Amino acid sequence: MFGPHAPESPCLVIDLSRVRDNLHALRSALSGLGDRHPTRIRFAVKASPVPEIIRLLAEEGTEFDVASVGEIEQCLALGVDPATLCFGNPIKKAAHIAAAYAAGVRRYAFDTEDDLTRISEYAPGSEVECRFLASTPQSRTPFGTKFGCAPGEAVRLLVRARDLGLVPVGPYFHVGSQQLDPAAWRIGIEQAAAITEALAVKDIPVRAVNIGGGLPISYADPAPELSVPGAVIAETAARHLPEHTDIVVEPGRALVGSAGVIHAEVVNVRIAPDGRRWVYLDIGRYNGMAETENEYIAYRITTLRDGDIADDAVIAGPTCDGDDVLYQRTRVLLPTTLRAGDPVRILDAGAYTASYSSVSFNGFPPLTVHVIGAERE
Ligand SMILES: Cc1ncc(COP(=O)(O)O)c(C=O)c1O
Repeated sequence: MFGPHAPESPCLVIDLSRVRDNLHALRSALSGLGDRHPTRIRFAVKASPVPEIIRLLAEEGTEFDVASVGEIEQCLALGVDPATLCFGNPIKKAAHIAAAYAAGVRRYAFDTEDDLTRISEYAPGSEVECRFLASTPQSRTPFGTKFGCAPGEAVRLLVRARDLGLVPVGPYFHVGSQQLDPAAWRIGIEQAAAITEALAVKDIPVRAVNIGGGLPISYADPAPELSVPGAVIAETAARHLPEHTDIVVEPGRALVGSAGVIHAEVVNVRIAPDGRRWVYLDIGRYNGMAETENEYIAYRITTLRDGDIADDAVIAGPTCDGDDVLYQRTRVLLPTTLRAGDPVRILDAGAYTASYSSVSFNGFPPLTVHVIGAERE
């Protein structure tokens, strides 16, 4: 991991073979859905819009959740079939819906009547999924109440979708990213099933339930294996959803998180006037470590000096911004021998790192990405 030909620091190294393995592991974790609930995996491009990842997943037959015209254009430029894209962001301008439609996108998610009306005008006849706010436990990086209508409103809006000439596909929920409680999917699917029943009464058969992303990976804190939420999903779907309702899963983190390692470097070590040791890295909140906001995600950090005596450290990024601190409440132990110039590795950093890094805050460039493991085994 610390070889002599390490790329320039900081950077993210993505192992494509790991992305493929993660996809296969996810398919296997969801295999309990069987033929009863055909399963469609839709990669959330925002997690890691790396061309090689998008091409690989397209070859593997996934669909893509895209959040903007930029992501649509990127997928199409890589040869992705627009029929496999879903414009899943409920916040979109009329002009962007029109651009998506012109590009061939025929699937949209929404959570308000306004957006639904715009979709009917600018993307007529398209398939629509209605995002509702499921009553799930809070995840590590929660959406709060930013997205999703009330479940009863979802029924009304999907009926309205039919009346507007659209194809109402079904309900959609997202349990929040890095969801550690498998019961979240049970709750969401039960609520989606109640919406499905209410729609059946109105002669609207639900074709698919979109159960969103949120599948967790292990960071410093362990997460349940994918088979655990996978079993809950299969069991709840079998119990509550009509046979042959598709299940759409929208993973980001679970496909790419463990496939990435950040190569970074210690820039400085300082003992602050209060006696705390600060370790400054060449990577921080603005060039890749955005998910350390509120210390939500506790990444594992390794160094060449692991094994030396370790002690508490505050970890900070390289910019002049006071918020560019990764961990000051989370306990991080690093070797006391750590010095400027020492390489560090930040593990399981393939999701929401490079895609979040700023264009040039303080003049620091966005995180560069290197891809390895491209060969098929
Ligand atoms: C609409 C939508 N779908 C899927 C995802 C992927 O979530 P995760 O990375 O937790 O799997 C996100 C993440 O923010 C999202 O906004």
